[in-house]
Amino acid sequence: MNNKKTALITGANKGIGLETARQLGKKDITVLVGARDAEKGKRAADKLRGEGIDAHAIVLDVSDPESIQKAAAQVEKDFGRLDILVNNAGVMADDKGKKVSEQSLAMWRETFDTNVFGLIATTNAFLPLLRKSAAGRIVNLSSILGSTGFHAKPGSPIYESKDTPAYNVSKAAVNAYTVQLAHDLKDTKIKVNAAHPGWVKTDMGGPGAMMELEDGAKTSVALATAGPDGPSGTFEHMGKPLPW
Ligand SMILES: NC(=O)c1ccc[n+]([C@@H]2O[C@H](COP(=O)([O-])OP(=O)(O)OC[C@H]3O[C@@H](n4cnc5c(N)ncnc54)[C@H](OP(=O)(O)O)[C@@H]3O)[C@@H](O)[C@H]2O)c1
Repeated sequence: MNNKKTALITGANKGIGLETARQLGKKDITVLVGARDAEKGKRAADKLRGEGIDAHAIVLDVSDPESIQKAAAQVEKDFGRLDILVNNAGVMADDKGKKVSEQSLAMWRETFDTNVFGLIATTNAFLPLLRKSAAGRIVNLSSILGSTGFHAKPGSPIYESKDTPAYNVSKAAVNAYTVQLAHDLKDTKIKVNAAHPGWVKTDMGGPGAMMELEDGAKTSVALATAGPDGPSGTFEHMGKPLPW
């Protein structure tokens, strides 16, 4: 076992996940580029290695329990522990032309399978390896759209943003899970937080988003590298708390 930290980022073949891997890699952390598509993961890891980063592709489909188990077994074999888990993979599958009451149950299930159950299954599988770290960190990618407080408050920045209800509620579940897990882990060296990256220019965020990728990864990277006095059980953006 070496002393260099190892971080696994799910959904790291593109977007905020890839940029998070890049920024963690530039901090001399070994990065495991999680991707459900082996070829896409390899291309992303090759790109980061070309930038001088110690990056390795790992196949991980968070909605496939077998894939998660295989990935955890591989990390255990190759590294013996995990220091950072960034649960970044996510989907926005809502039919934006429909109202909340008109969205299909199949779409709610698809959304929760990845954004919630996939995130929990991945966390459960990697927790034994995170417990072996001197300072385990878990970052759950949430969204301001998961803020139930803002959704319930007329005039809040997202009050009118109700066209992706399954996504919004899935991220509210991620927030609630983060609080539950932080309590479970409060007497360990592991810290777990929910991150809102900002509205970022990615395939999900779209070209009209306000933030560039470089800034969009900063909240995840800060929480992933927080020191022993860092937060646990919070929901934040760029170091500032958001309402649950
Ligand atoms: N962009 C924003 O403005 C914004 C705002 C708030 C929160 N977020 C959150 O930030 C995270 C990253 O978003 P992004 O904007 O970078 O999105 P993105 O560009 O669409 O990337 C999403 C990533 O998740 C992967 N993914 C989806 N389902 C997966 C599965 N079952 N197993 C493994 N990987 C899977 C995708 O893989 P494929 O390439 O194979 O599809 C892709 O690598 C998400 O959790 C998102 O909800 C984004």
